[in-house]
Amino acid sequence: MKRVQFNRYGGPEQMSFGDYSLPKLAPGRIRVRVKAAALNPLDWKIRRGVMRLATGRRFPQGMGSDFAGVIEAVGSKVMGFHVGEEVFGTVEIRRQGAFAELVDADARLVVRKPRSLSFSEAACLPIPSATAWAAIVTAAKVGPYSRILINGASGAVGRSAMQLALTNGAEVVVAASRTSLGQFNDAAIKAACLYGDITALAAHGPYDAVFDTLGTLAVTDGLKLLRTGGRFLDINPSPSRIVKGLFSGRYKMIFATAGFKYLPDIAIAAGEGILRPTIGLETPFSDALTAIRDAELGQSPSGRIVLIL
Ligand SMILES: NC(=O)c1ccc[n+]([C@@H]2O[C@H](COP(=O)([O-])OP(=O)(O)OC[C@H]3O[C@@H](n4cnc5c(N)ncnc54)[C@H](OP(=O)(O)O)[C@@H]3O)[C@@H](O)[C@H]2O)c1
Repeated sequence: MKRVQFNRYGGPEQMSFGDYSLPKLAPGRIRVRVKAAALNPLDWKIRRGVMRLATGRRFPQGMGSDFAGVIEAVGSKVMGFHVGEEVFGTVEIRRQGAFAELVDADARLVVRKPRSLSFSEAACLPIPSATAWAAIVTAAKVGPYSRILINGASGAVGRSAMQLALTNGAEVVVAASRTSLGQFNDAAIKAACLYGDITALAAHGPYDAVFDTLGTLAVTDGLKLLRTGGRFLDINPSPSRIVKGLFSGRYKMIFATAGFKYLPDIAIAAGEGILRPTIGLETPFSDALTAIRDAELGQSPSGRIVLIL
């Protein structure tokens, strides 16, 4: 079996295709024949060693989190799933290995694929949608009277957040680069501003929630844009931001893991067309090393990059 792996932490040059065999399937896990796997920035952050406390020092390590495919085998303690079913899901940070012909995933991180979605579309959902769900639905609790600012709305997390916020009836203001601004001409969006244009962002506020998907909005600026009781939600952790998140009632660091329990709701929302992943490129698995490197270097088309098996 082939997978994308690396033998030490580092840059794109550390990636290679490797042969591997999976261990005996654990009781709580599901083995999936991967049909599509979507790239997340997390994939290269892990390969660079950013999360080595969680990912350890045993090599080679497989790459990739988000996948869609067909169940090949079901662990002895897994209920409700059957061989041959079409599913999508994600793999825990400390395990990875979705850029592969076969992957084992915790059954709690796997859900049935809605018929209306392709494998590629389904593979784009887990991490971006779970993160957006944890921020917009759970932490911000956006509703019809909410006004929300999404800083970085053209990425996968930002788009999911925008779709969830609009569906819940919120007023949405987005901030994006000059290149991406043209994407936000939907009448439902209250305003689209350039990154860093605090005057324009403030003119459309104050906000019940500011969701920064890129970690580029200064926390002091974000907090000033909030109305009383509002929350600044961040997903790009640094040690100082994590500490701030622990002690502030107004500033919170959100992790995709907090949204994984909503994967069944995410599947329903995607099946109903509420969550609509944007695919930038579908490319054969054999081109994975180039596709990952290009995405990491910002040289891919806008939208999710999906490996097809
Ligand atoms: N805390 C967590 O658990 C968690 C979970 C998910 C993601 N994250 C982090 O959140 C960040 C955003 O994740 P994401 O999946 O939304 O990233 P993404 O889809 O790659 O998009 C990020 C931004 O990059 C810009 N961009 C997208 N495609 C581009 C291209 N082809 N060329 C140039 N720029 C491009 C876009 O902004 P503009 O076009 O406006 O420049 C976009 O908003 C990442 O740093 C990720 O690691 C954290």
